[in-house]
Amino acid sequence: MRTDYNKISKEYQASKLAPWRKHIEAYSFFKLAGDVSGKQILDLACGEGFYTRQLKIRGALGVEGVDISKAMIDLAKEAEVKNPLKIDYHQQDVLHLDLPKKYDLITASYLLNYAKNSKELAQFARAISKHLNIGGRFITINSNPDYKAAVAPMKKYGFTRENKSYDEGGEIVFRFFQTDDSYIDVINYHLEKNTHDLELKRAGMSQVQWHATDLAPEGIKEFGKDYWRHIMETQPVIGLTCVKTH
Ligand SMILES: C[S@@+](CC[C@H](N)C(=O)[O-])C[C@H]1O[C@@H](n2cnc3c(N)ncnc32)[C@H](O)[C@@H]1O
Repeated sequence: MRTDYNKISKEYQASKLAPWRKHIEAYSFFKLAGDVSGKQILDLACGEGFYTRQLKIRGALGVEGVDISKAMIDLAKEAEVKNPLKIDYHQQDVLHLDLPKKYDLITASYLLNYAKNSKELAQFARAISKHLNIGGRFITINSNPDYKAAVAPMKKYGFTRENKSYDEGGEIVFRFFQTDDSYIDVINYHLEKNTHDLELKRAGMSQVQWHATDLAPEGIKEFGKDYWRHIMETQPVIGLTCVKTH
């Protein structure tokens, strides 16, 4: 079952307010992105523009966002009207991505985990490679293929993650809880690290590296180190970077 973000766009947007998003996810994402100043950046699976806007605010020369969901792109465009940052948003399926430009940096917070099999992952990898300048980087935060932990203890962070199977293409259910304890489910698919390495390399990328997520010092100050122990030890999401070489 594919997740239809048109039905959960507002709830997903609200889930970005959880402390782990800021202190682990965003902190790690921007560490991987590095200095973005002067760069032409494409943010894939941009959703409502959570990272797209930040990339521009942090000094990128140009930023564009792509998402398959009209409702997510509508929210991103609404934010652009309220606070113009000169970001262009495109409603496209990255599996068939076709933009008339190449970029210095392509980012994606949660795209590759929507590939249901190695064929779709290869399609994502080729789309990314096709839109990168030689020497350009792809950086992403994704569900961690090596994650194996009990479901319940993660709930204190505002979400849980459950692998229905660890076979290639097996479903992963991310459940995001709202403040009233109602929730939305987002379905991802399990593909091994090796499969990612192979398909990214086949598409013209090298220096494929996996990066454990980091915790921002402000997160420790605000909540204490103990609060973060479980999520930091189990690493439900992970960073991945590579460089376009041919
Ligand atoms: C978990 S959300 C992340 C949104 C945003 N990157 C963030 O971190 O807030 C995943 C997004 O991927 C989009 N998506 C899933 N499959 C896609 C595809 N094939 N092409 C483009 N976008 C896709 C969904 O519509 C959704 O907005």
